[in-house]
Amino acid sequence: MAEAAMGGNLEHALGTGEGSDVSTISAAAPAEVGLRFEVDGEIATVTLDRPDKRNAQTFATWSALARIGETLPEQVRVVVVRGEGPSFSAGIDLRMFTPEGVPGQESFASAAVLGDSEFEQLIAEAQKGFLWLRRPEIVSIAAVQGHAIGAGFQLALACDLRVVTDDVKFCMKEPALGLVPDLTGTKPLADIVGVPRAIEMCLTARTVGAAEAVRLGLAEIAVPTSELAQAVQDLAAALLATDRAAATATKRLLQAAPGRTLEEQAAAERIEQVARIRALFGRN
Ligand code: ACO
Repeated sequence: MAEAAMGGNLEHALGTGEGSDVSTISAAAPAEVGLRFEVDGEIATVTLDRPDKRNAQTFATWSALARIGETLPEQVRVVVVRGEGPSFSAGIDLRMFTPEGVPGQESFASAAVLGDSEFEQLIAEAQKGFLWLRRPEIVSIAAVQGHAIGAGFQLALACDLRVVTDDVKFCMKEPALGLVPDLTGTKPLADIVGVPRAIEMCLTARTVGAAEAVRLGLAEIAVPTSELAQAVQDLAAALLATDRAAATATKRLLQAAPGRTLEEQAAAERIEQVARIRALFGRN
């Protein structure tokens, strides 16, 4: 597997050279960074494909993920995120914390000397790899087996739904390493399990297994490893059986619900329904 490579050095990666801009970070092709991307009709599958390194993630992984999101074919309605091998993902590539870093990329030791806004922009670029999975036009499903640690847990949390195997091991390890979870995972985690449970989980960095994950709503269903692919396929088929415009509008409503009052949500339902019924009767 080729090592991740998104630029010669951090300055290049950040686009901090003359005339450049942070937003110009370029993404290597998925295969070069240990990702596979396949589209089959309305279903796209993103596969973390460095099983020998337990699908550890780097800046290049996140850039490639963001690029996939930016170029997602319009017909895609379901995005499956999965990992090759025994583990979904062992999280961030720990070489990023060494002075040498990952070949072709810089380490955090170099990033630590950046100014605040540059450093935050670097993290914002990484977060783009996760945020697109929440778009109303798609439903994202994480298919999670084995370890989903740190960035791996956060990638699973970035998806709308999680189908897990009986041997799943979720762990938010960042605080144990002196970090915070910053790959968009804290909000979905707190939304799903509640703030007290999220604090307990993150600050103890303990492992959450399949039964607890299902009980807490972190997983929709847990299945034997041999049944994971079929369970995901069945869920995707059921999701695709729903009218696309209605599915998009309903997801949009549900996503906004926690931030609205009942009256605001009722108003939003009216607006979406007027558009739906007009469309059904060809009046839009
Ligand atoms: N970064 C880089 N390489 C890794 C990582 C990682 N996060 N995780 C595993 N690997 C590599 C190992 O170094 C090993 O490489 P090698 O064969 O060249 O020696 C290979 O993947 C297999 O790893 P093993 O530990 O042998 O696999 P095992 O199945 O026994 O254990 C486990 C898997 C539990 C995931 C273990 O590898 C582990 O604890 N990894 C580190 C997890 C971690 O701390 N991640 C960071 C979380 S914080 C964050 O993501 C921001």
